[in-house]
Amino acid sequence: MINRRKFLESAAALGLIGALPSKVLKAGNKITNRGIKYKLPIVISTWSHGLEANAESVRVLNEGGGIVDAVEKGVMIPESDPNNHSVGLGGFPDITGKVTLDASIMGPDGNAGGVCFLENIVHPISVARKVMDETPHVLLSGSGALKFALDNGFEEENLLTEKALQGWKKMLERENRTPEINWEEKHNELHDTIGLLAINEESDIAGACTTSGLAAKMRGRVGDSPIIGAGLYVDNEIGAATATGMGELVLKTLGSFLVVELMRNGASPQQACEQAVKRIVDKVADHKKYQIGLLALSKKGEIGAYSIQPGFNYALYAEGKNQLLNAGSFYKTTTNK
Ligand code: GLY
Repeated sequence: MINRRKFLESAAALGLIGALPSKVLKAGNKITNRGIKYKLPIVISTWSHGLEANAESVRVLNEGGGIVDAVEKGVMIPESDPNNHSVGLGGFPDITGKVTLDASIMGPDGNAGGVCFLENIVHPISVARKVMDETPHVLLSGSGALKFALDNGFEEENLLTEKALQGWKKMLERENRTPEINWEEKHNELHDTIGLLAINEESDIAGACTTSGLAAKMRGRVGDSPIIGAGLYVDNEIGAATATGMGELVLKTLGSFLVVELMRNGASPQQACEQAVKRIVDKVADHKKYQIGLLALSKKGEIGAYSIQPGFNYALYAEGKNQLLNAGSFYKTTTNK
């Protein structure tokens, strides 16, 4: 008789259950021909900074908080961490030495808010939430976003730490300033955008995405993270997706919207992430120089994760466990060398 483990191995080999994170197969999970189906709630987020963010989101949910509160509070943890050089306080500055932040949030009711090119505010995600909750608009930028924040009680703070300044100076000395793939792995630093998706026991879904964007970017450059459909998308009937990495590639393909639409048309979250990465590979000529990581979550409690280059990891909270997992990738070795 074929045992469960053998069944899973052969099902995976036949492509029936996609690229399952083998570490998370355990007795409680329900296996469908689309992947692992976890019991709700689930929180999934990009990179290792996601572990603490997930834990905070789960704490909010456990204390009876709403799903939008859970995603906002979760990503506020890396936003206020000065040792995290890709989000909020301590983020790497742009080419002129100024830290500028992008963020977006989307709830189960389809409402959304974002801010971009925002300076001097530690929690852009909370300003994005205010844009969503208290204005008829979706996106505020630059000095307008800052004025809105100050009018709503946020306080200005210098976000440029000494450590980020020194790291930025070293970066400028490098002859080739193409963003390094998987900065985290190479420099033991927390890396890139946090995108976080959560679904509660009532099956309501929300997401949040926040970043200081590309280090040493052009003044005024805005990435994918504050753009609904690019860095983040939620459809409470279907699921949600978020993106990390070189924002221009995500913007050119509207990555998160694409993942959710692929799910709407029948793809599992894993298949949707893989197809969306393939779309970037097919459509963006210089994609080999960059990393993109996509995460997805379905209404049914399935997850997906995939990247262009190896080295993208993500934090998954499900069924009482919060763990860091490696995503599969289109290329098996890094291609920007
Ligand atoms: N994904 C973040 C950015 O490109 O700004």
